Order: sequence, then structure tokens, then C-alpha cells
Amino acid sequence: MAILVTGGTGYIGSHTVVELVQSGNDVVILDNLSNSDERVLGRLKEITGRDITFYKGDIRDRGIFEEIFAKEKIDSVIHFAGLKAVGESVSKPWEYYDNNITGTLTMLDEMRKHGVKNIIFSSSSTVYGDPDQVPVTEESPKKACTNPYGWTKSMLEQILTDMHTADSEWNVVLLRYFNPIGAHKSGRIGENPDGIPNNLMPYITQVAVGKLKELSVFGDDYDTRDGTGVRDYIHVVDLAKGHVAALKKLEPGSGLSIYNLGTGTGYSVLEIVRTFEEVNGVKIPYVIKGRRAGDIAENYASPKKAKEELGWVAENGIREMCEDSWRWQKNNPGGYAD
Ligand code: NAD
Ligand code: WQD
Repeated sequence: MAILVTGGTGYIGSHTVVELVQSGNDVVILDNLSNSDERVLGRLKEITGRDITFYKGDIRDRGIFEEIFAKEKIDSVIHFAGLKAVGESVSKPWEYYDNNITGTLTMLDEMRKHGVKNIIFSSSSTVYGDPDQVPVTEESPKKACTNPYGWTKSMLEQILTDMHTADSEWNVVLLRYFNPIGAHKSGRIGENPDGIPNNLMPYITQVAVGKLKELSVFGDDYDTRDGTGVRDYIHVVDLAKGHVAALKKLEPGSGLSIYNLGTGTGYSVLEIVRTFEEVNGVKIPYVIKGRRAGDIAENYASPKKAKEELGWVAENGIREMCEDSWRWQKNNPGGYAD
């Protein structure tokens, strides 16, 4: 049996495909390439030695699922496909709700029609909103989101929970990622944003490689150690391994499970900048700017539940995350075009 990985040519999906294959799983990828590059498939072959079956298609298209479920033996889905740019979601809410919600609803209907009722879903720490207390546990309340992207994650968690309540044959794992950064040690796959990056680490690596002049640090007046925002950065390979560990919660009768995937340690923006400079021997010029709308001061996970129930812990520290992000960017300044 194979695992269908939607969004499998994207940043987290591609790293997860590597870990799945290397732990002995058969994988089929479905991606519409709206935010990824088909050339990642060649890189996946270099790393794993395997040709990964790929379908180019959209999760809103029933036909592509009919084709995949007819041709492949799928027993579970790891669902990464979706739009993820927070700022863009504010200006294009319909596109975000259509892609992420209509797409997932279409997929879930096709899955149940074909008797496939096992799913791991990419959720986000964004569902905790501005938490009252850190670290956040899986029992911390979900709060109002500040943008349509966040709402799609929050709503899809609810939809999947209700699907399981109505039909206990569904096994659902909601993985709440904190801030994934880093890249595969080979330097052959990594994050490849289109245009100017929204997130901190790809912005830093593009400054380091000379594509961007300087980093804007969004606010130094938060109630944190040095006034800049604190987040729980997690190495993307550790995150990928979290999905392999979560497969055991798709065994019959597992039901609904929710896990934070983070390290449990928060770092400020300036701590990330300094660590990046130190481990890589490059300078990151920055200027302090005002706060970015919708940002919160501090968020980091309690990863205790994933450790206890899945036996999973993040192994890479912040130095490795900075080193591996830089290796990828330095070796591939133009992304997969190089
Ligand atoms: P990504 O954009 O690199 O990957 C998403 C992939 O989905 C892309 O390859 C894209 O082409 C594909 N896709 C988008 N819409 C599609 C559609 N309608 N049909 C088929 N394919 C489609 O993003 P990522 O960082 O790898 O994120 C993967 C998942 O994890 C997303 O659901 C994202 O919301 C979630 N997530 C990401 C982060 C993060 O910081 N990167 C944090 C928490 C959660
Ligand atoms: C991190 C810190 C910024 C860019 C987002 C989504 C979240 C999840 C992960 C998907 C903050 C600061 C950033 C820059 C900066 N994604 N920063 N200058 O906002 O924690 O989370 O990605 O689910 O839902 O909201 O990540 O990397 O954008 O920011 O100073 O140019 O870096 O203010 O403190 P964020 P980020």
C-alpha cells in the first residue's frame, strides 16, 4: 500500500517524502506545482535512489483523485497541499478558502468514496492565536485567527474532527507545526519561495546570498528578552520525521489525535540573526522597523505529548537549522533553476 502525499513537491512535503521513502514506505505525490518546481522530483531521486510516482493535479479536481485511486493502492493521505502566505490570504480570502477548504472537502469526499479514511493534516501553531500562556499544549484553547490563512487551518481541523465524530472509521492526525526552517543535509532540497520571502529564515538567507539588501526586523518593543518576536523554530527534517512517527496513529481504531511539532524552545529574531552570522561566518545587515500587523510577541510549543505518544523529539538545534538553511541557499541561489 502507498501513502498519497498532497503538496509533496513543496518545502515540507518534499522533506517528508524523503523520510517516508527512507523508512520503507511507498509514496505517490499529488501537486499542482502552484508553489513548487517539478525539478524537485529529480532531487528526490538523487537523495532516495527512487523514482517517486508523481501526479500533476489540483486537489479541487475530482477527476485526479478518481485516476489516482483507480491506479494506485492508497491507504492513507498526508495532506500538505494548500496556499500558505499569511499576507496574501488577507487580500485574496476567496482564493484561500477555495483552495484550502473546497480543495480539502473535495479530497475528503473522494477519499471516503474510495474507502480511504486515514489522514495526517498539516495544521499550524496559528490556531492558538495569541496564546495566554507559553508553552502551548494541545489543550491550550484555539483562539481567533488574525487572517484567512489561519482560519482555513482552524476550520479544517474542525471539519476533520467532525468527520471522525460522524464516522469512527476515520483516523485523523492533526499536526500543529511551529516554525519550520532548515533544509536537507544534502543541500539538494530546501525552501524556495517565489518572490520576496514573507518568513524570517528565507529572508535572512536571501540577504546572505546578496539577493536582498538588509533584513527588516519587525518590532523591538515586544515584552520579550530583547524586544523582538520569539518563535519555536524547528528543523524541517525533524518535522518530516514527525510525520513518519505519526503514521502509527493511523492504525485501525486510533481515532483523532493532535500533536504539536516544535522543539519547546523559543528564539528571538535577533538571536536567529546572531546565530546565523556566527555559524556561517556571514554578516546579516538589518534595520529595526515597526511591528508587522497580526504578529504576536511570543509562541513556543510544549512537545511533550508527541514525545510520550509518538516517541518523537526534534534532534536538531538552532545552529544546525541555520547551517542547513544556508547550505541550501548558497548551493542553490536561484532555487531549483540552478
Ligand atoms: P509549500 O507551498 O512549499 O507546499 C505546498 C504545496 O502544495 C506546493 O507544492 C503547492 O504547489 C501545492 N498546492 C497548493 N495548492 C494546491 C492544490 N490546490 N492542489 C494541489 N497542490 C497544491 O508549503 P509548505 O511550507 O511545504 O507547507 C506545507 C503545508 O504545511 C501547508 O498546508 C502549510 O499551510 C502547512 N504549514 C506550513 C508552515 C510553514 O511555515 N511552512 C507552518 C505550518 C503549517
Ligand atoms: C517569525 C518572526 C516576525 C520576517 C508564520 C505564519 C504561521 C506559520 C509559520 C504557517 C516574527 C519576524 C519575519 C522578516 C522579521 N505558517 N520577522 N522580519 O509569523 O511566526 O509564522 O509562519 O502555518 O502561521 O504566521 O513566521 O517567519 O514570518 O516570522 O522580523 O522579514 O520573525 O515578526 O517575529 P510567523 P515568520
